[in-house]
Amino acid sequence: MLRLILCSLLVLPSLARAEDIERGRLLALRWCAGCHVVDRSATEARADGVPTFPAIAGKPNSSSEHLRAAMNPIHGRMPDLALGKRDQDDLAVYILSLR
Ligand code: HEC
Repeated sequence: MLRLILCSLLVLPSLARAEDIERGRLLALRWCAGCHVVDRSATEARADGVPTFPAIAGKPNSSSEHLRAAMNPIHGRMPDLALGKRDQDDLAVYILSLR
């Protein structure tokens, strides 16, 4: 029994993380793919200069704080998507998982 509890303590956090990444990926497909290339398969950026998510993930200053700030409306040409905190968090983990 103790072993079972220990085992789930070890496994659960990583499961939660995989789930967040998957949730972020679905959000990205739904809300971001109209402008950004959102998955790893992209080999080049779009002609209009909108950065791809793998490119964003690869930038050294792309922390999750930076990504969340970029999702807020005051920023540049990004539209106001009114994303909740959890959505922003999951999108940020997804983008950083592309590293
Ligand atoms: C209507 C088009 C559009 C949509 C939809 C859009 N973006 Fe953007 N995004 C842009 C443009 C254009 C830029 C380039 C920077 C700028 O000019 O503000 C950008 C920049 C960014 C950056 C900043 C990159 C950096 O280096 O700082 C992040 C992060 C980002 N977008 C994330 C998202 C996420 C996450 C979504 C979906 C929830 C999303 N974007 C949806 C147009 C869009």
